Amino acid sequence: MKTHHLQQKKVIIAGGTSGIGLATAKTLAAEGAQVTVTGRDPVKLKEAGNSRLNAQSLDSMDRAALDAFFSSYGSLDHLVITIGSGKGMGNFADLDLTDLRDAYDRKFWPLLNTVQAALPHIRPTGSVTIVSAASSKAKLPGTSGLAGINGGLELMMEIWARELKPIRFNAVSPGLVDTPWWDHYGTEAKAAAFKSFSAQIPVGRVAQPEEVADAIQFLVGNEYMTGKVIVIDGGIS
Ligand SMILES: NC(=O)c1ccc[n+]([C@@H]2O[C@H](COP(=O)([O-])OP(=O)(O)OC[C@H]3O[C@@H](n4cnc5c(N)ncnc54)[C@H](OP(=O)(O)O)[C@@H]3O)[C@@H](O)[C@H]2O)c1
Repeated sequence: MKTHHLQQKKVIIAGGTSGIGLATAKTLAAEGAQVTVTGRDPVKLKEAGNSRLNAQSLDSMDRAALDAFFSSYGSLDHLVITIGSGKGMGNFADLDLTDLRDAYDRKFWPLLNTVQAALPHIRPTGSVTIVSAASSKAKLPGTSGLAGINGGLELMMEIWARELKPIRFNAVSPGLVDTPWWDHYGTEAKAAAFKSFSAQIPVGRVAQPEEVADAIQFLVGNEYMTGKVIVIDGGIS
């Protein structure tokens, strides 16, 4: 029995104009899904449009805009959420809590708002897949803030799966992935961080976004998966 039924399915990828979201959009579109990606940066939106994806300007931090978008879009089959920012990393003693609050504001709350706004429009046969982070499990120094955000989100999946059945809810929890998420560190610092982390990762390298997209595709397409977190981290946790 084939478990991937993505042909003609209507999929929205919130934060799908870059990195993991963009790789997922291309993967699902190649399977025949009708994919719409959302984001804020007009340059990234244009580039996504050039890749023959439907691209829609939408800020997931704006609840009124989310409600209006999902109402006008109508019924959808699958929602994937890959929004986030590079904020919130650092050893706890020195962690700037304003920075950590900002990290929650840029990932935790917009993700919950996106799910709530979309829920009335998701078909009962549909699903929600979020991207959390393996900081929730890896227990590495410098990641307690990120662990709080992503661990909290992961804990919600099983409860949402029970409360909101038969809609399915899952998370993909990646380790280090080579995406623009790291660009704010600058090219040299990014390369140094990747080198130092790679030495700690059992597979010896950071992930490519397409590898995470592969796990997302599995969760979206497999109708027996719900309430689960797939950790795809090269073994670091
Ligand atoms: N890269 C990693 O090493 C790594 C590791 C673990 C977990 N993750 C998680 O994976 C997810 C995806 O990260 P990525 O690495 O693919 O990062 P990315 O390349 O920076 O992509 C993030 C995407 O989210 C969009 N976005 C951010 N805030 C948004 C908002 N308020 N409304 C709408 N769109 C928004 C961005 O577009 P605009 O800025 O144009 O809006 C962009 O398309 C994040 O949740 C991140 O925490 C990443």
